[in-house]
Amino acid sequence: MQTLVTDRPEEAASWLNRSETVAFPTETVYGLGADAFNPDAVAKIFKAKGRPSDNPLIVHVATPEQIGEVAAEIGETAKILVERFFPGPLTLVLKKRAAVPEIVSAGLPTIGVRCPSHPIASEFLRHCKHPVAAPSANVSGRPSPTDWKTVYHDLGGKIACLLRGEPSTIGLESTIVDCSVNPPRLLRTGAVSIELLRELVPDIEIATACKPGEAPKSPGQKYRHYSPEAEIILVESPPSNLQTDLHAAWIGLAAPPAGAAKSLQCRDMDEYARVLFGFFRTCDAEGIRTIYCELPPEKGIGRAIRDRLVKAAGEEVKNSDKQ
Ligand code: TXA
Ligand code: MG
Repeated sequence: MQTLVTDRPEEAASWLNRSETVAFPTETVYGLGADAFNPDAVAKIFKAKGRPSDNPLIVHVATPEQIGEVAAEIGETAKILVERFFPGPLTLVLKKRAAVPEIVSAGLPTIGVRCPSHPIASEFLRHCKHPVAAPSANVSGRPSPTDWKTVYHDLGGKIACLLRGEPSTIGLESTIVDCSVNPPRLLRTGAVSIELLRELVPDIEIATACKPGEAPKSPGQKYRHYSPEAEIILVESPPSNLQTDLHAAWIGLAAPPAGAAKSLQCRDMDEYARVLFGFFRTCDAEGIRTIYCELPPEKGIGRAIRDRLVKAAGEEVKNSDKQ
């Protein structure tokens, strides 16, 4: 299949309206969309990504008013969160309408709904006839794509159309809050931080990471995620120096350690979030074998960065001077 790369949201939407898959930019990461009410089109997403069929998709809407097309019920907490954070980097899990095909929710009675704030995404979604089911536009298990070239690298030839935009400004996937349970539960951290959520929903619970043998709260929790080919080593501060033969890289807020073959010192946590997945990708392309990553402070978007780092590392925090 040839993948058409376009800058025109309306043209991209016309492919989607004809049962095809379309990758599109959002402020969090790029998504791979299909018509949420067309099960055959949605099946193409799972095929292109190699995504397990029991991992549900988030449905994207052009405006908050469209939520009712996919959700059966919008409770008080959900209304408050929609009012404050839609459009934006927040996904709400709500009771699903029966009309939404099972393939989208992977058989769950709930549905994740998000309304992106990205202007190109909004224009694209407005031209789509129905809400758009879309996971991140990467091959399953790889870091989420934050620029169109990475989407093309992973999915070129496997999808009908790629709507090109600027690199994503946030760089990490949306925060997910399950509003179908009481109290509401935070399933994934993101740019909408737990501190911000608690101001409006003081009783929100934080879902703990899935432990072996335990049923996952969000199906996505059971899959290894965000993994570059290089080994990830998490540190609280830079090691004193790196062995140059390790082809090691550094990313963090602190100055890079001596001996790093490649490094990226971020000005602040927003920049760290924005560049992290792209850095993983370039490290892989350049044959870096080990990436030392600084764990940022556990506040604001720092929690989301830590979450992605821990997942990329395979859940292990290593001693900072261990090489
Ligand atoms: O920022 C984002 O959320 C991006 C952009 C494209 O919107 N999308 C994204 O989708 O990250 P994906 O599929 O890579 O991650 C969606 C996560 C998965 O972990 C999935 O298990 C969870 O959302 N999820 C979806 N529907 C759910 C539901 N009904 N209940 C619980 N978890 C759900
Ligand atoms: Mg994903």
